[in-house]
Amino acid sequence: MQYPDYRPRRLRKNANFRRMIRETRLSVDNLVYPLFVTFGKDVKKPIASMPGNFQMSVNYLVKEAQKTRDMGIPAILLFGIPEKKDETASGAFTKDGIIQRAVREIKDKVPDILVITDLCLCEYTNHGHCGILEGNEVDNDSTLEVLADTAVSQAKAGADMVAPSGMMDGQVATIRDALDDAGYETLPIMAYSAKYASSFYGPFREAAESAPQFGDRKSYQMDPPNSDEAIREITLDVEEGADIIMVKPALPYLDIIHRAKEEFDLPLAAYNVSGEFSMIKAAANLGWLDGEKTMMESLISIKRAGADIIITYFAQEVADILAK
Ligand code: PBG
Repeated sequence: MQYPDYRPRRLRKNANFRRMIRETRLSVDNLVYPLFVTFGKDVKKPIASMPGNFQMSVNYLVKEAQKTRDMGIPAILLFGIPEKKDETASGAFTKDGIIQRAVREIKDKVPDILVITDLCLCEYTNHGHCGILEGNEVDNDSTLEVLADTAVSQAKAGADMVAPSGMMDGQVATIRDALDDAGYETLPIMAYSAKYASSFYGPFREAAESAPQFGDRKSYQMDPPNSDEAIREITLDVEEGADIIMVKPALPYLDIIHRAKEEFDLPLAAYNVSGEFSMIKAAANLGWLDGEKTMMESLISIKRAGADIIITYFAQEVADILAK
């Protein structure tokens, strides 16, 4: 079909035509809302680089979980800021760690929202790297042991799903084994499978107080120019027992999301990370972009590329718009 027989504009003529032939839709059902929990009581500290996001103590976190549930969002993703950090990330796996306490409280007060726990050590190590150091290098296999303990401890606290994000080799298999041995064979793993060493995590590191104190994360997170390697990483995670796979960040990696959707038949999550959120907020605050429209366009692009699940700091704002 060619012009003048085919005129694509015919079906763009008005809102009803556009609505009728729209190929992709956002749904509140696919959203995950990340939240930051910190020690203390009655703390609700704004995160400067992420307007509308806070470090919250457990009492406020519970309220936020309730609100999120009431908006119809099915899941939250929790990040913890411990009172003390050390070499061995002990705050990650103690029974009374910040995440363990937060999960217990939420599951007690708001049982009908899924609580997903980020499973990484960077918030708990005093050097800010995602594992145990051997000299100046993150040692893969000793880190796996700590991740296994942390996974079981999060499961015991009542987490509905764990989300390993440290990009250690073999982490999914190790965590799967540990969970199975502890009797949690029905607890799913959402694997940050293709996670890139991205500058878009900048605002998050302020939020989670998890910036590396020296060096960078390039020896464990993926090199941004690579695409085939993402497929190898995801293949490993699928073979190791991932239930949901993830590409992170989202917008600068839509091609990877698309490839992952084509090549794998597991549910695919995309993480619309802090920098993607903050860029839009900053431009909107300057009056340079329409914040709401840019947000909606970004998220629909992530969905169109192939993501089934979108983890986003915009979750509540989108849910509000979708409910109108
Ligand atoms: C690591 C982790 C990071 C994010 C989620 N999990 C940061 C990092 O790898 O440095 C980033 C999320 C975001 O930027 O929104 N535990």
